[in-house]
Amino acid sequence: MHVLITGGSSGIGAATALAYARAGARVTITYNTGADRAAGVVKRIEEEGGQAAAVHLDLEDHATIAPAVAQAGEVDALVANAVRWGTIMPNSVPFEGVPAAEWSAVMHANVVANALLVQAVLPGMRRRGFGRIVFVSSGAGEEGLPGPGAYGTAKMALHGMARALAWDAGKDGVLVNVAVAGLTLTERERPVSQEALDAIAARTPTRRLSTAEDMAALILFLGSAANRNLTGEIIRDGSNAGRSSHVA
Ligand SMILES: NC(=O)c1ccc[n+]([C@@H]2O[C@H](COP(=O)([O-])OP(=O)(O)OC[C@H]3O[C@@H](n4cnc5c(N)ncnc54)[C@H](OP(=O)(O)O)[C@@H]3O)[C@@H](O)[C@H]2O)c1
Repeated sequence: MHVLITGGSSGIGAATALAYARAGARVTITYNTGADRAAGVVKRIEEEGGQAAAVHLDLEDHATIAPAVAQAGEVDALVANAVRWGTIMPNSVPFEGVPAAEWSAVMHANVVANALLVQAVLPGMRRRGFGRIVFVSSGAGEEGLPGPGAYGTAKMALHGMARALAWDAGKDGVLVNVAVAGLTLTERERPVSQEALDAIAARTPTRRLSTAEDMAALILFLGSAANRNLTGEIIRDGSNAGRSSHVA
């Protein structure tokens, strides 16, 4: 099994790369600005006896997509995890203050680039009669997030893309699903206090926030042969706290 993981240089993508490698897969990760971080992930996998490579891919520059996929070679699984965050902080900018250019940039990078990425890997999956595609989404799409909505809107577009693709490619053995992360603890610094994190955790079913490794385990299941016939589904990780009004 050869998996291509976009945004594998940090966070959930890096943890997912390690999880796949530990399960015996050959891994290719993409990075944008984090060539050194990506090299670190590759080194760690190799030190553990796995096979890994890193290629450059910029969601904002669609011309980088085909060369990245060509460099990776034929892939059995695609994890579309990379994200151009955009302006998502709550209340930082009112909805009407988000310029058209920001909407276009977020859609261009987080929706159109992922469609092009799928177009690049799908013919090979169809030919081999096997493929797994996992889109990494966010509770910010379904539940909403105070502040600009472009990020959440783009994530919801991926849900539609996954459902359409599931019907399009299922007959060829390609299963397509969405793994929805809630607030997930990664090494990235975030401007959220520990008190706020604790409050969000208290509203989740398990009373704890997921780690990148928790998300990686979900993605690995959806995006491997262990997933035998689940497709077109939107699977929410336990870190999603949005629908918890019944929790005191
Ligand atoms: N962490 C959370 O709380 C959370 C919550 C909900 C959903 N998610 C979703 O989970 C996924 C991973 O999030 P994360 O927290 O692990 O993110 P992260 O640590 O910020 O990593 C983002 C990754 O995306 C890559 N990237 C950024 N801009 C890019 C661009 N223009 N082109 C190509 N790659 C680009 C980065 O590459 P470089 O560093 O190499 O530039 C990095 O590998 C995302 O889809 C995100 O929306 C995360």
